[in-house]
Amino acid sequence: MSAERIPQDGINREILIMEEDIAKRVQELADQISVDYKGAYPLFVGILKGSFIFLGDLVRKLDPDLQAEVDFMAVSSYDGTRSSRQPKIGKDLNTDIKDRHVIVVEDIVDTGYSFDTLLRILAARNPASLKTCALVSKPARREVDVPIDYLGFTIPDNWVEGYGMDTDEKNRGLPDIVFRKT
Ligand code: IMP
Ligand code: MG
Repeated sequence: MSAERIPQDGINREILIMEEDIAKRVQELADQISVDYKGAYPLFVGILKGSFIFLGDLVRKLDPDLQAEVDFMAVSSYDGTRSSRQPKIGKDLNTDIKDRHVIVVEDIVDTGYSFDTLLRILAARNPASLKTCALVSKPARREVDVPIDYLGFTIPDNWVEGYGMDTDEKNRGLPDIVFRKT
């Protein structure tokens, strides 16, 4: 644990996935998506705020000939570290997704309620295809079954921060994914 990688605020944290390993996995996901979507001009829908770093890194690793587009939606379900189980849509898309190949990008799938809600909303708009990509999944916490077509990492049931993920809006900028211990 170096002072540069983890805030020295008295909270006990441990690095779970290092920056270098995240980068390697993001490259692998981008390579797979580049093959699968060749010629399809996909639209990536990033779920704010947690996906902003992951999506930013992912699109830079894609085959440039994909001519991928990016748009964002905002959904929030958490108050601190507790799921309200009633995700609220904040910002909607600016893009018409009818007949588009859409890949929804999440930071983390936990209970699955946020992803499930979003997928229903987006599916009703008749995209040509609708797939999902998440950096992290906590399957032990799942309450709603949601498909994850492109998954970075499966992790145990522990609160994590960093690489876009927050605790009450803090620590999104940490370069690694860290466990927050209480
Ligand atoms: P779900 O609806 O329970 O699947 O929650 C998904 C959303 O909750 C994610 O997009 C995150 O924003 C947030 N979330 C869930 N678990 C964590 C965590 O361990 N750290 C930070 N955010 C989390
Ligand atoms: Mg969040």
